[in-house]
Amino acid sequence: MNFDRHRRLRSSAAMRNLVRETSIAKKDLIYPIFVIEKDDIKNEISSMPGIYQLSLNKLQEELKEAYEAGIRAVMFFGIPNEKDECGTGAFIDDGIIQRATRLSKELYPDMLVLADTCLCEYTDHGHCGLLDDHGHVLNDETLPLLVKTAVSQAKAGADIIAPSNMMDGFVQAIRSGLDEAGFHNIPIMSYGIKYASAFYGPFRDAAESTPGQGDRKGYQMDPANRLEAMRELESDLAEGCDMMIVKPALSYLDIIRDVRNNSNVPVVAYNVSGEYAMTKAAALNGWIDEERVVMEQMISMKRAGADMIITYFAKDICNYLDKGAYS
Ligand code: PBG
Repeated sequence: MNFDRHRRLRSSAAMRNLVRETSIAKKDLIYPIFVIEKDDIKNEISSMPGIYQLSLNKLQEELKEAYEAGIRAVMFFGIPNEKDECGTGAFIDDGIIQRATRLSKELYPDMLVLADTCLCEYTDHGHCGLLDDHGHVLNDETLPLLVKTAVSQAKAGADIIAPSNMMDGFVQAIRSGLDEAGFHNIPIMSYGIKYASAFYGPFRDAAESTPGQGDRKGYQMDPANRLEAMRELESDLAEGCDMMIVKPALSYLDIIRDVRNNSNVPVVAYNVSGEYAMTKAAALNGWIDEERVVMEQMISMKRAGADMIITYFAKDICNYLDKGAYS
């Protein structure tokens, strides 16, 4: 016989567990939550079954569930009552995210709050920065507003700043802004590798942030490009980012692997809204086994090199893990 017997290591559950290379733990998960400024609302997002727009009183119940399930990191997205051309709602002291952050830190001090630092949910035109007369997003003029947003989020108690608007120089600007305000110890998790993706569709329904005109291709990356991701990575590392997000995740596993191989910072996969919606839709139709498909997707991101995963499935995964089938 002159072939290898690979099946030796697959002979029983205990054997397979012993040689398993990749695993998922609750500590790897970051749970995104949509917080709406209106009162007493729990509004299910039609394209994201199981995910809601929550007003602050309902957020309290959601945080309790998440905390009790074992989640120790949440990320808030805000839906403000008022929007204007420069996204003021993103950086005011009593903005919806600032209030949600204070509430969460008060109720669960040991649960990390990640702040998505962007303007698109707060601008009336839905773009991620200030516009010039031709509808182009202004880079340098937008940076001070992002800095203000990050500082106000840190003041409210955010543990990690996650800038996502894809302006050049945003990591450097936010780092100096945080340092000047005394927040040397607040890390930046950069969404510097963010593709202009159709997979964000359901998020834009949830966050009410679809651009009124045009698209985000002038600042988010072209899905066809791989080397460009390495250039984004290089600048963000040079500018002082502490962790790097790749977004979306499942169609970009090659990019996650590239970031892992070309940097030493923790790598984060953002399992985005469209990925959630597709899986949920198939599961609700009875076409796939939801638990097994979700866990396989999570493992694929970890195997590609992600250290942690931002996912709308976070609570479900905690429940799967509690059943003990994955240890
Ligand atoms: C804010 C932001 C977006 C997402 C995360 N932060 C939307 C966008 O860029 O259009 C998308 C997340 C998801 O689809 O789950 N800029």
